[in-house]
Amino acid sequence: MALVGSGRKVVGLAPERQHGFYGRDIVSVRQFTRDDLTYIFGVSDEMRSLVRRVGATDLLKGHILANLFYEPSTRTFASFAAAMQRLGGSVIPIHGVQYSSVSKGESLPDTIRTLACYADVIVLRHPDVGASEIAARYSAKPIISAGDGVGEHPTQGLLDLYTIYSELGTIDSLRVAMVGDLKHGRTVHSLARLLRMYQTELTFVSPEILRLPSELKCELEEAGRTVIETDSVESIIGTADIIYVTRVQRERFEDMREYEAVKDCYEITTELMARAKHRMALMHPLPRVGEIHYDVDDDPRAAYFRQMENGMYIRMALLAAVLGKA
Ligand code: ASP
Ligand code: CP
Repeated sequence: MALVGSGRKVVGLAPERQHGFYGRDIVSVRQFTRDDLTYIFGVSDEMRSLVRRVGATDLLKGHILANLFYEPSTRTFASFAAAMQRLGGSVIPIHGVQYSSVSKGESLPDTIRTLACYADVIVLRHPDVGASEIAARYSAKPIISAGDGVGEHPTQGLLDLYTIYSELGTIDSLRVAMVGDLKHGRTVHSLARLLRMYQTELTFVSPEILRLPSELKCELEEAGRTVIETDSVESIIGTADIIYVTRVQRERFEDMREYEAVKDCYEITTELMARAKHRMALMHPLPRVGEIHYDVDDDPRAAYFRQMENGMYIRMALLAAVLGKA
């Protein structure tokens, strides 16, 4: 007997639904295998062609997503909502918790238990590292992390990897440079962990105080990746296949003088791009606050708007997969 129902946690699996996503929480990219990624990218391709052909479908008709965001968001919030609606489902939007009972002191577990009564899946963005794991413990329905503080942003990691594959047709053998706030950038943490599974050469470009967390560096080295650290964009500009630029995360600094000292550390200009490889992709999770000049946007290698569009297809695929409809 199948012990699963739509939007419930996995207890036992119906044979036809035995893939790595049905009924599962998505709280860290650590949980994925390369096969999982191949699977979800294939479903994302289908979602992309579906949206381009007909715009929407009723695959998730009758299903409800709770979008619970304790931190600001434009892309993740809107793309999850759009993804659910394009699949025929509906959304409970809690964007900023100041008008919810969180402002009366309600705890995360109780808030999650509440939403799990009404929704089939919960998307959570929270300022605390590990909040999604805590939420998953209390939720009868799948939790999808939309970013937990300086920890991870797993669905962004997936859409970033999908974008690399879409732009360059491969992931193995690429030289990937990640630039900016590698200490606080949760998108960097998720993408680097995913790249660990591929034969990539990773260069981390940042000022000394914004270096990649040492435990993540160790994870990459243990997986056999070559990790190079530098503070010079000049040193990677001519050789990188992927340049992944990030914002210095103002909201994560305790000492604003430190932020002021590093906030403008890197700027990608058209002059710099003139020295980059002819075939490469310039990526950014967005929002940008000066790290990539606006006149770079016309460069065909500027992939960040395609990257953000890909987010919707990846999230359509994930929602369909965790709800057993992919
Ligand atoms: N939007 C991404 C995040 O929430 C990147 C950023 O905010 O800089 O992590
Ligand atoms: N990339 C990203 O997470 O954007 P938002 O913070 O706008 O959701």
